[in-house]
Amino acid sequence: MKFFIDTANLDQIREAEALGILDGVTTNPSLMAKEGITGYDNIMNHYKTICEIVEGDISAEVIATDFEGMVREGEALAALHPQIVIKLPMIAEGIKACKYFSEKGIKTNVTLVFSAGQALLAAKAGATYVSPFLGRLDDVSTDGLGLIEEIRLIYDNYGYETEILAASIRHTMHIIDCAKIGADVITSPLSSIMGLLNHPLTDIGLAKFLADYKKGNQ
Ligand code: G3P
Repeated sequence: MKFFIDTANLDQIREAEALGILDGVTTNPSLMAKEGITGYDNIMNHYKTICEIVEGDISAEVIATDFEGMVREGEALAALHPQIVIKLPMIAEGIKACKYFSEKGIKTNVTLVFSAGQALLAAKAGATYVSPFLGRLDDVSTDGLGLIEEIRLIYDNYGYETEILAASIRHTMHIIDCAKIGADVITSPLSSIMGLLNHPLTDIGLAKFLADYKKGNQ
């Protein structure tokens, strides 16, 4: 399973990259705004900086909601760096743009996916990645992991190559459950990735090893 980090924060991206387990980055307009990245040139430069830090797919989202606008923005983003993946919203115009980019061999990530039907359309349009938002479904008392399972089943039934990129991850168990289901990728905040490291028995065991070494080597 690939690990992407879901942030535009450069320090967090560097920290995850330093761990040696990072396969890519996803961003969205909310995450860019959270870091205070505003204005066309700053946003484009920020994407380039992320591409220089991480070797892997970097999702950059279009703002336009019409086909022509998405194509214009997507082409400018794709020209920035070969690692850029065009992130398109799950609306009719986004599906048309997904088909357009997939025919040109440009990678896409269809985002804001909340149903199996939407995921099926994204695969039909040749999306490289589909992003079901599991945490936001859980927030409204709907089974987010159940959606990932449904999409896995549908994609496997027909051999769709679109990768399931589980998004809106809120905690470490989401990551583990996605791995059990067979999600191809998770995109997660740094805290949930780092949370996978923790176990009190590891800490207790290490403290004992070090104490025993000290006793025997005084
Ligand atoms: O990248 C989009 C997605 O991961 C959003 O997560 O936490 O805002 O629901 P969240």
